[in-house]
Amino acid sequence: MYARSLLALSSFGPLLASAADCTREFLKETADNLLAAQEAGDPSLLKPVSDALVYHQNFAEAKVESGILSTAIKIEHSRHSLDTTQCATYTEIVSATGPTPYVIGTQMFFTDGAVSKIDTLVTTTGDWLFNATGTLYWASREDWGTIPEEERDSREVIQAAADAYLDIFSDKSVVVPWGYPCSRLEGGMYTGTGGPDDKCDVGIPSGVSLTNRRYVIDETVGAVSVFLSFAALPDSHEFRVEKGKLRYVHTITVMNTQGKSRGRRNVRSRLAQPPQ
Ligand SMILES: *[C@@H]1O[C@H](CO)[C@@H](O)[C@H](O)[C@H]1NC(C)=O
Repeated sequence: MYARSLLALSSFGPLLASAADCTREFLKETADNLLAAQEAGDPSLLKPVSDALVYHQNFAEAKVESGILSTAIKIEHSRHSLDTTQCATYTEIVSATGPTPYVIGTQMFFTDGAVSKIDTLVTTTGDWLFNATGTLYWASREDWGTIPEEERDSREVIQAAADAYLDIFSDKSVVVPWGYPCSRLEGGMYTGTGGPDDKCDVGIPSGVSLTNRRYVIDETVGAVSVFLSFAALPDSHEFRVEKGKLRYVHTITVMNTQGKSRGRRNVRSRLAQPPQ
């Protein structure tokens, strides 16, 4: 019985991508399918998807068929991170000029060569510092390009830089590897001008715990996407790390969640002052 099922499995071998087959090409193709699905408003264009897909939108369990992918959105900027170690992707999407502006961040995790979990954050007008025009303007001027192999940081160094930044919200004694220059794009607000004097060590709120972190790491571009709970809010922090130091920070924070008004008020008062 056992031998027979093994035999049956092995005869399907070429169709099933194992972890070893989780190549950048495969991840890119699937993440590109996500963009195609989003542009068409047709979730069926996202493939391959597992029958056991778990879909979360703004940290609430939902149906992919009725989620954001069922809305056709004009994509004006997008960027993928591809994590072949975990078999996962992160995609940032900006749509500034359509009837509804959006900034969307999506983590996808794969099992047996198919998308088995999608975690997506959808922000629009009313979300924290939201300004898709600003996001589009600044995000498309930044360089998140491939880092030469000999200059790349390890996954551990990249994640440690992100964690240090996230920890400083609750512990000011943490040493953060600030890069200079460094720029933060939060909602649609930029902490700098895109020039050599931009700094990230400005205006970080205190007394907030950033918990339940889920990482997608792409060493080839020094990028780490972290989905987390920012107090009560669904949040994405993404970092570009160069030579162990922070170069860019992008945040997406959902305020428009249902039934969470108390948490929202608390966090809003803590975040009342944008960084300067
Ligand atoms: C949004 O960002 C753009 C580009 O940076 C800026 O010109 C505009 O004033 C911003 N809008 C708001 C409402 O802040």
